Amino acid sequence: MNLKTKGRLYGIGVGPGDPELLTLKALRLLQAAPVIAYQSATDKESIARAIVAQYLTGNQIEVLFHLPRALEPEKAKSIYDKEIEPIAAHLAAGQDVVVLCEGDPFFYGSFMYVFTRLSEQYQTEVVPGVSSLMACPVALSVPFTYYNDILTVLPAPLSAEELTTQLLTTDAAAIMKLGRHFPKVRDILHKLGLASRARYIERATMAQQRIIPLDEVDPAKVPYFAMIVIPSKNRL
Ligand SMILES: C[S@@+](CC[C@H](N)C(=O)[O-])C[C@H]1O[C@@H](n2cnc3c(N)ncnc32)[C@H](O)[C@@H]1O
Repeated sequence: MNLKTKGRLYGIGVGPGDPELLTLKALRLLQAAPVIAYQSATDKESIARAIVAQYLTGNQIEVLFHLPRALEPEKAKSIYDKEIEPIAAHLAAGQDVVVLCEGDPFFYGSFMYVFTRLSEQYQTEVVPGVSSLMACPVALSVPFTYYNDILTVLPAPLSAEELTTQLLTTDAAAIMKLGRHFPKVRDILHKLGLASRARYIERATMAQQRIIPLDEVDPAKVPYFAMIVIPSKNRL
């Protein structure tokens, strides 16, 4: 592989929201970078940038890119190709670029779309971050998995059948990307007798964190940054 040696690409996990959950390595790279890049869903503020705002030096070039959600894969591909061009241009010009990613970069992270497109051309380093998968159970104060428990991570947009099948065979689960899928998920949890064990949290570790009993959640107000945690029923 013939890597260009000019700019280096960094993908850094900035954690789930609390700025103190950034790693020391991420902080060092962030403050040394001439260029930082971050994504937001179109027209929305970048959560990742907000998390690190207090650490920015004030003299860095900032690149915002949009990765609209819920697109057909083919349409998404060409939009993502185009959105990532400004990052490639800085790297080609010899500038290091730090790409911020909420949570962990390789756990459903937006950085993966950058990595796929640029890591074969530019030296790339990825710094893990505290993921929502770790932060939500801790914020909820629920020990999550014991001993040989099986943990299943489920995106809520999956079909009711698939969610049911997976939930029937696991010890513990995290259900992500709830948004408008919340009512379907809550129904399934009631049908499977899991509702009393399930815990709901939104914007974990952020200033606006809320923990609400499952049956009191208003389905019309479930944000994108929300998760249902079903801890293991084992207690050792
Ligand atoms: C595209 S994934 C990104 C995951 C991220 N890379 C991570 O490591 O946590 C977005 C989903 O992660 C979950 N999530 C991320 N941060 C969260 C937070 N602070 N509180 C609750 N859920 C969160 C939500 O389920 C959201 O729909």
